[in-house]
Amino acid sequence: MLDHTRMAADPLDWMSRHGVDAPVHFRAEAVLVAQAKAFVRGFGGMVTYAVKANPDEAVLRALAAGGVTGFDVASPEEIALVRRLFPRAALHYNNPVRSPAEIAAGLAAGVASWSVDEAGELEKLARLAPGTEVAVRFKLPVAGAAYNFGEKFGATPDEAIGLLARVAARGLTPALTFHVGTQCTDPSAWASYVTEAARIAAVAGVTIARLNVGGGFPSARGGVAIDLKPYFTAIHAALSAFPICPALVCEPGRALVADAFAHAVPVKALRPGRAYLADGIYGALSEAPSMGVPRFSVHAPGGAARQGAARPTAVFGPTCDSLDRLPGLVPLPVDTAPGDVMLFRGMGAYVTGVSTRFNGYGDWRTVSVASL
Ligand SMILES: Cc1ncc(COP(=O)(O)O)c(C=O)c1O
Repeated sequence: MLDHTRMAADPLDWMSRHGVDAPVHFRAEAVLVAQAKAFVRGFGGMVTYAVKANPDEAVLRALAAGGVTGFDVASPEEIALVRRLFPRAALHYNNPVRSPAEIAAGLAAGVASWSVDEAGELEKLARLAPGTEVAVRFKLPVAGAAYNFGEKFGATPDEAIGLLARVAARGLTPALTFHVGTQCTDPSAWASYVTEAARIAAVAGVTIARLNVGGGFPSARGGVAIDLKPYFTAIHAALSAFPICPALVCEPGRALVADAFAHAVPVKALRPGRAYLADGIYGALSEAPSMGVPRFSVHAPGGAARQGAARPTAVFGPTCDSLDRLPGLVPLPVDTAPGDVMLFRGMGAYVTGVSTRFNGYGDWRTVSVASL
């Protein structure tokens, strides 16, 4: 449900005027536009947005307003969503496993680039989408991300050499791509991948048209604003490994959207050592088990921040499932009371598209705010 009352300055302004008795999702379009502009200005290549990170239409429109001209899509539904909003935007279909029907949907929508990490998928594209750009996705055992993205997708460098040569031999436009893993806080991870991409292309004897350096760029999850310049600098410096510099593409999700949202969750009940919230891991806090508890503050009903000393507390979501618990013990202020609100920050990525309505929870009103 979208709130159409006068826009509040920020979540605390809204909370103090309206009160919070159910979860509220705060969205700052201005932050989305600014983040897109910063990425487009700083990256020095084509910025595509990974729609899966947040498929909210207002998000897509704000990012486009900030200069994003292409979208990384993973399914026909995401393709249809982008096409409905932006008939001429570039579509990159970078989910490397696709059924023939999914390829047909991509073709009908004019997908400009596809990724593969295995010969069978490559042959499908050679047959069904002749002449298009195919990026071989490879993986390296480099650290720095929140968890390992190489477990599911990505060819080894040796496999990638063979695949890239085959892409060229099939008359497809050759490209390379990788994903360092989400929330990667080490710029040298990109440098390692770019350098290896140059080696893969050289050994395959193929000049690649484009290098897609993926997503994985971090958001301010730990509370410290991220300067993306070192990441862009590392990527550009490593490009010198190519004898002919390929055009650059990136496909960030989290870094474009996470810090443009906050999420307010009422504390329903307290028991000794425990708190029960109105939202949990089946709702907006679904990333907590894999990524840790997002940074938060606790507020009394009028909006004042609770200042009490931190007390380690087991924090549960609203469903009847005992897995519905934030990981570890969460440092809640000792003066936290039922009816207070936990205000989580950096809540724009992998929330809207991931939340379920399990047990009848996981719904919220979305409120636009001027800033966060
Ligand atoms: C192919 C691909 N590109 C981009 C992204 C976006 O990653 P992030 O949100 O870490 O930037 C993902 C995330 O799963 C992905 O699978």
